[in-house]
Amino acid sequence: MSAVPVQPGFDPLAEGFLADPFAAMGELPLAEQPIFFAPALGYYVVTRYADIEAVFLDPGTYSAGAAQLPLVPLVEEAGRILLAGGHKPQPSMVSLDPPAHTRLRRPTARAFTPRRVAEMEPRIQATDDALLDAVDPAAPFDLVAALTFPLPATIVFSFMGVPEDDWPRLRAWCGSRASLAWGRPAPEEQVEHARNMAAYRGYLRDLVAAKAGARTDDFAGALLAIHDEDPEQLSHEEIASILFSLSFAGHETTNYLIGNLVRRLLEDRARWERVVADPALIASAVDETLRYDTSVPVWRRITRRAATLGGVDLPEGAKLFLWLAASGRDASVFPEPERFDLDRSNARRSLAFGKGIHYCVGASLGKLEARLAIAGLARRFPDLRLVEGQEIPFHPNISFRGPLELWVRAA
Ligand code: HEM
Repeated sequence: MSAVPVQPGFDPLAEGFLADPFAAMGELPLAEQPIFFAPALGYYVVTRYADIEAVFLDPGTYSAGAAQLPLVPLVEEAGRILLAGGHKPQPSMVSLDPPAHTRLRRPTARAFTPRRVAEMEPRIQATDDALLDAVDPAAPFDLVAALTFPLPATIVFSFMGVPEDDWPRLRAWCGSRASLAWGRPAPEEQVEHARNMAAYRGYLRDLVAAKAGARTDDFAGALLAIHDEDPEQLSHEEIASILFSLSFAGHETTNYLIGNLVRRLLEDRARWERVVADPALIASAVDETLRYDTSVPVWRRITRRAATLGGVDLPEGAKLFLWLAASGRDASVFPEPERFDLDRSNARRSLAFGKGIHYCVGASLGKLEARLAIAGLARRFPDLRLVEGQEIPFHPNISFRGPLELWVRAA
């Protein structure tokens, strides 16, 4: 049996790691130890592209059950509040294995049609324009507050059919969700987050009930139409669960993607100037950012049985920390991986959206939002630059990463 290397110092929630995970990555002997055990987390860290891809493509061996597990065990009271609020340890689609996963994924894919995404384009454009109109270009501004946060929130909530007055509540609940499953909250914070989760789930159940009585032409309405065809196929409770998936997945992921994208383009003037001169490069810039500095750097799985991965023996129940950000820097797939390269021909191969049965439902919507955001910025503010000397803050969690603030100036 091959011994698994151990990295006792690996802690992705440490301050230095949160500020610069790529520096921490560079200090690890990943060439010799592409899979190692991190006792601080109790997870096996998997870093090579081929190994992560193999995990995604083998749901029979690697269960999605760990995808949203709290990273730290929850105190009893928080656990009790969650269960009473209908929030189980495998709370939604992305944590479920077939056949439960298929029951939710199939109607989601049916309702999330390319037509519905394409129809969002004028709304994304209009939202983007309105947000940028509100910017005062004479003073430095925080691009996250001005654009990258409100744009995807507006789009996903209106796509789902959530009334605008309720958006602030939903945003706040999403913050609790990130901390609870992917962060390391203190016990009293856990209880507060658990209460928020129960309120969040209750809200979505009520929303489905209200929409069942008064139909609307949106994603929730499309799911209710599937329920009407055959109530056995998709229950109201399941529709609320799908909305729970989307309200979060379509929000911070894209906010952070746009933030990372702007940061990476502006930190090297030549990149930004190329994109301004040739907007056809924007699509490549989005793909290259997803490879080089993705907004979902880590995803998780758990073994259903003993398995061998990349020459390492894993026991049954082994929790895997799939380091997607490291797979984007795998030189065997992406030559000169440390170089941000707008001309890279295979950036689209990155595993940023996963692969296989859980492949991100919203990949095309997220990328469309990012492209339109950059196009709008490049058109209006060709001289955009980063405010010098700023320290970019990040939310303390393992799976969602992008600037919480990004200060720029338009001239
Ligand atoms: C743009 C940045 C985004 C990134 C980097 C991203 C990334 C991911 C990843 C890594 C997964 C898990 C894949 C797996 O387990 O194999 C996932 C799943 C998912 N994503 Fe995204 N996502 C993004 C945007 C969106 C948007 C805009 C939506 C919806 C509006 C969305 C909805 C979902 C859903 C519903 C799932 C669960 C699919 C399933 O379990 O079958 N995502 N995403």
